[in-house]
Amino acid sequence: MTATAISIITISDTCSKDASSDTSGPTLVQLTREMFPQSLIRTTVIPDEREVIEAMIKEYCGMDVDLIITTGGTGLSSRDVTPEATKAVIEREVPAITVALTTESLKKTPMAMLSRSVAGIRDKTLIINFPGSKKAVIECFEIVRPILNHAIAIIKNEITKVKSVHNSMQLDHVCSHKKFSSNVDLSKVALRPRESPYPMLQMAEAFKVIDSVMKEWEKSLEQVKIEDSMGCIVGEPLFAKEPMPPFPASIKDGYACLSSDGAGVRRVRTVVRAGETSEAPLEPGECVRINTGAPLPPGADCVVQVEDTKLISASPDNKTELEVEIIKAPKAQQDVRPIGFDVALGAELVGEGAVVDAAVIGILAGAGYQHVRVRTKPTVAILSTGNELQDPSEATLKPAHIRDSNQMMLKALLKENGYPSVCMGVARDEASELATSLSDAFKRADVVVCTGGVSMGEKDLLKPVLLQDFGATLHFGRVCMKPGKPSTFASCQFQGRTKYIFALPGNPVSAYVCCLLFVIRALRICEGRRSDFPRMRVRLNNSFPLDPRPEYVRAVLRFTEDDLPHAEVLGNQCSSRLLSACGASVLLELPPASDNLDCLPAGHVLPAIITGRLEH
Ligand SMILES: *[C@@H]1O[C@H](CO)[C@@H](O)[C@H](O)[C@H]1NC(C)=O
Ligand SMILES: *[C@@H]1O[C@H](CO)[C@@H](O)[C@H](O)[C@H]1NC(C)=O
Repeated sequence: MTATAISIITISDTCSKDASSDTSGPTLVQLTREMFPQSLIRTTVIPDEREVIEAMIKEYCGMDVDLIITTGGTGLSSRDVTPEATKAVIEREVPAITVALTTESLKKTPMAMLSRSVAGIRDKTLIINFPGSKKAVIECFEIVRPILNHAIAIIKNEITKVKSVHNSMQLDHVCSHKKFSSNVDLSKVALRPRESPYPMLQMAEAFKVIDSVMKEWEKSLEQVKIEDSMGCIVGEPLFAKEPMPPFPASIKDGYACLSSDGAGVRRVRTVVRAGETSEAPLEPGECVRINTGAPLPPGADCVVQVEDTKLISASPDNKTELEVEIIKAPKAQQDVRPIGFDVALGAELVGEGAVVDAAVIGILAGAGYQHVRVRTKPTVAILSTGNELQDPSEATLKPAHIRDSNQMMLKALLKENGYPSVCMGVARDEASELATSLSDAFKRADVVVCTGGVSMGEKDLLKPVLLQDFGATLHFGRVCMKPGKPSTFASCQFQGRTKYIFALPGNPVSAYVCCLLFVIRALRICEGRRSDFPRMRVRLNNSFPLDPRPEYVRAVLRFTEDDLPHAEVLGNQCSSRLLSACGASVLLELPPASDNLDCLPAGHVLPAIITGRLEH
């Protein structure tokens, strides 16, 4: 059972300059504190700026806040944008809350008619707009009070626990840095197992396990600004709300004419440039000078390019054409892009499941879409473990320490593949500290990627902590691969949600390879993408000895006259040497050594997993 996290956002230009003038925010804190005595309440005061409001609500939702109440900015003045900002970030509206607020408030003041409050849900957070005045805040809180507990519990999927939520509220996982005491005791080193108790899975089995576990991830959609949607998967088809072009447009610089006039001399009435309109319909015998992209004047049905005309007469100063001759009779619709020629009204612009790329962003921008609903990406947290690790930001190395490179590397690797993540720092090899860090990571993310602590040392606490402190299910604990043998995949329930844990070896190259092969695969499945990276056939540049395990070797591709790219294996492939991954475009999939093949000769053709840019 978990306690409640609440955020109160005061939205007011005045209060954001002088927080002491905010009376509604503190009143709400007092009211929520009375109702949820042990809750964690955060407050903030921000100006009436739509982007700031949206960002703030999103940030709180990202922190797994259960309830956000805003006060202010719901009225009719031009700066009142709270409802618009709220609408932009919520995923599902709960209109009846707003109806109740309005209905009840109307009994007290007709001014309630002027409130535009919105209520809704984003992820697991309930968001309600209250008006700005202290009096209104008190009244509105009384109106929603009866449903808050129940609503929060349903949204958190804790409906089965509603009774206990009603009875006692206690602080558990909400407050960060609260020490978590672990049940794991590995002090009896002499009793440790000498052999890993985990069965060794073949790669294909490991992939199958990941696929079937991750398919259970609850998919959802979220609304993002189109400029933030690059690389996302479109969640629902988008249709053209207007035809493109929205008016018949000229394809040439020339004269808009009536085709029924045929060839011959025309009076040049006026000029229409791109971006201009002309009102009066074209009369027979008239034409209008027109530029590329400009709308045809009413009546005109064709365009004759300048090259097909002759000047007959001009004004004495030569600034205005008076008459031109159309040399060849034009056809109707000649050099005209009719309405909807590029995109018809109602045409599907982007289908469900499309990956947003630059062209899609352009299409959506051109079609007047500011937002697009995309498949929600899982949130990812990265945690390093090891007493020897120090933060890379520290200038000098402590004795017997090394800088943690994994966290930043994995963050960059995930980002390159379209997945944002948060770094949770380094946990020391101590069960309670590891458990605390894991629980913090679970609060922040759906998927937690740990490095280190999965080998056979007595300090390799990850598996026992996951099993004993979080009741995790271990899907695999060893994989037949090089590098990355101790790779571990687990899941557990935490605060009513499933968390997925990838515990990768601490060696940087192992972490790199396993993140590519396992973690990114899992994230792609959550987004409903193809799970596999694309593969291509390449020719091995140098001979390469085979390992008893299937090996993943970092290589760079050289594109030559040959029909296949040449793969040059990078540097020393030892699993602690990250230099061997710099510039890698592919992972070569080497088969395990067998009795008749213990070395691949130069020129051998084999599959390569494309993991990076093809050329550097
Ligand atoms: C206009 O053009 C004509 C034909 O080239 C020329 O004879 C006349 O001088 C021009 N007038 C002016 C004001 O430039
Ligand atoms: C491997 O690469 C080197 C350097 O680019 C080149 O000289 C050599 O011919 C290549 N060998 C093969 C078998 O492609």
